[in-house]
Amino acid sequence: MEGILHFVAKLTYLSVYSKIFLLVYQPVNFGDDDDFMDNYEPIRESFLKEVAASSSLDALYAVKVKYIGKKGVISELNKALAKLPSEEKPIAGFEIGKLRNEFSAAYDDKESSLKERELSEKLISEQIDVTLPGLTLPIGREHIINKTAGEISAFFASIGYLKATGPEVELDYYNFEALNMPYGHPARDMQDTFYVSDYEVLRTHTSPVQIRTMLACKPPIRIIAPGKVYRSDYDVTHSPMFHQVEGLYIDENISMGELKGTLEHFVKALFGSDVPVRFRASYFPFTEPSMEVDMGCSICSGGGCRVCKGAGWLEIGGCGMVAPEVFDAVRLDYNKFSGFAFGMGVERIAMLKYGIDDIRLFFENHLKFLNQF
Ligand code: PHE
Repeated sequence: MEGILHFVAKLTYLSVYSKIFLLVYQPVNFGDDDDFMDNYEPIRESFLKEVAASSSLDALYAVKVKYIGKKGVISELNKALAKLPSEEKPIAGFEIGKLRNEFSAAYDDKESSLKERELSEKLISEQIDVTLPGLTLPIGREHIINKTAGEISAFFASIGYLKATGPEVELDYYNFEALNMPYGHPARDMQDTFYVSDYEVLRTHTSPVQIRTMLACKPPIRIIAPGKVYRSDYDVTHSPMFHQVEGLYIDENISMGELKGTLEHFVKALFGSDVPVRFRASYFPFTEPSMEVDMGCSICSGGGCRVCKGAGWLEIGGCGMVAPEVFDAVRLDYNKFSGFAFGMGVERIAMLKYGIDDIRLFFENHLKFLNQF
């Protein structure tokens, strides 16, 4: 005990007292008369108290720095120890070591309990309910117009038609001239046209694909050409952009009976065998004779409504036998070949099929509308 008392006295002389005071915020008296254990005790107690009060790992770490850190209480004690006479060092060193071990053990205990608590708090706050339904990504769907055009094409594919395409910005020549509508022809007025330049238009129908195909292929030709077309028109049954499906069949000895049979077969396949179909004599410069194809209005079941304009019938397209002028334009011999062509409005067909009474609904992009199909 003598040695320890001496050690304590030395500590006082080395004015460690003040430093420790600052570190632990409470007076520790290393006066001559005190027993070392009495002075050791307050440090130990305040350390344990601070450890116990630490409510987070950060707070606990601060306590560790203050007591066991490089400039902490234990370090100060060790510095003081270095200046002791050598015979006193072992005992004082032993005591400081004991204190340090006790600090470390208390620190480790507290650290692991805080870590455990933090982990369990994290587990609770990040809890996932594996029984909740998963997030489903909206995957979108085919637009009703593409779907309908696909159905029309699929029917014609089933009877041997190949798919053909052409550009939407089309030469005036293919859109009009080659289809027997030269510049100034009154039939051009039937199709309010968007002109891109003096010789280019936004195609007003899919019929130019007939010309392109006949120039590129030799008969027999059997094609279907679905696509966008444009006209300066806008009301419940007209949209400035809409879709058509063109059909063309060229071979030897093709008759009008085959044309009518093909289209009737098509309407019945798409709408059911009880849907009425009628052909009306009409005029197109590129077919002769020409007809319009009507089917019973499915919106009003023939009673008359705003879509069929009270007629009970709705026109789904035009058709006819390919005109001699067109054969000339593509340099095919009309004495050898004959054929028919038809063009149908996809929107019209979708409106009839799904009972939609305003063409503009297709292009306003309201998901409530589109998701129904
Ligand atoms: N192209 C014509 C139109 O858009 C329809 C049609 C196509 C008529 C083929 C006859 C032959 O009105």
